[in-house]
Amino acid sequence: MKFNDLDMKSWKESDINTDSLWVINERDKSGKHKNVYHGNFIPQIPNQLLKRYTKEDEIVLEPFMGSGTTLFECEKLRRKYIGFDINPQMLEYVNSSMRDEKYADNFYINDCNSLDSLQVDENIKKANEKFNSSQVQFVLMHPPYMDIVKFTENENDLSQIDNIDEFVNKFKIICENSLKHLEKNRYFAIVIGDVYKNSEVIPLGFYCMDMIKRNFKVKLKGTIIKNIEGNRGKLGVGGIWRYRALNSDYYIFKHEYIFVFKKEF
Ligand SMILES: C[S@@+](CC[C@H](N)C(=O)[O-])C[C@H]1O[C@@H](n2cnc3c(N)ncnc32)[C@H](O)[C@@H]1O
Repeated sequence: MKFNDLDMKSWKESDINTDSLWVINERDKSGKHKNVYHGNFIPQIPNQLLKRYTKEDEIVLEPFMGSGTTLFECEKLRRKYIGFDINPQMLEYVNSSMRDEKYADNFYINDCNSLDSLQVDENIKKANEKFNSSQVQFVLMHPPYMDIVKFTENENDLSQIDNIDEFVNKFKIICENSLKHLEKNRYFAIVIGDVYKNSEVIPLGFYCMDMIKRNFKVKLKGTIIKNIEGNRGKLGVGGIWRYRALNSDYYIFKHEYIFVFKKEF
C-alpha cells in the first residue's frame, strides 16, 4: 500500500531523513512559523513525518494543536488538517493566522478537550462532513511533558499533572479517542521528552511508548532521537547549566523522542 507521494525513481535526491538520529540545528522560521508558543516543536518534525507518511489531500489529526506548527506545514504540503486544543488563546491565534480563503475548506480546528470522547467524536463528525471523509490517515501527538510547561489552568489540561501514572493513564485516553479515527494500517507519531523530578530522570517518553505497545495493536516503526541544540542558547559549552551539571551528578537534556507506530487494528 502506498502511503506517501515519494518518487522512488529519484530517491537519491530525497530530503527524507531515514536515520534514527535527527540532528537539526536551526529551527525553520519561514512562512507562518513565528516560534511564539513556549513548548512548541520545530516545523521540521511535522514536515518530515507528513512527507513520509501521508499523500497530498489526506487528513492529519492532531489532538494537541498548540500554535499550529503542524497545520502550517499541512497547508504548505497540501494536506488536510483537523486540530484540537484546550487553550482558547491558541485557537484565536491559529485562526488569525489562517486568513487565506484558498485553504479554508481544508482545515478544521476547535477548542476541544481531547480527553472527552464525546467532544472529540462530535468535532471529528463535523470535520468529516466538511471534508466528505470518514477517517484520518495520520495522527500526530505532541502532548505536554507532564507539568514542565504549564499551558493553561484548565483541570483537563495534561500539563496540570505531576504524577507519572495519572499522566500515562490520561494520555492513554487521548490515544483511544484519537486512534479510533485513524485508518487501519496507517501511521501515527508521538513527540515527547523526558522530565527531571526529585533529583532523578523520569523516562516519560519510554513510559508513554510502553503504554501504547501494551494497550493498542500497533507495530513500533521508529524510535527517533531528536537533538534540540538550536533551541536553547543557555546550553552552550560555557553556560551556567553546564557549570551546574558539572558541579553535580546529572546530564542536561538535549533530546526528545519521536515514536512512530503503524496502527494494526
Ligand atoms: C506541547 S504543546 C503542543 C505544541 C505544538 N506542537 C506546537 O508546535 O505549537 C501541548 C498542547 O496540548 C494542549 N493540551 C493539553 N491538554 C489538552 C487536552 N486535554 N485537550 C486538548 N489539548 C490539550 C495544551 O494547551 C498545549 O497547547
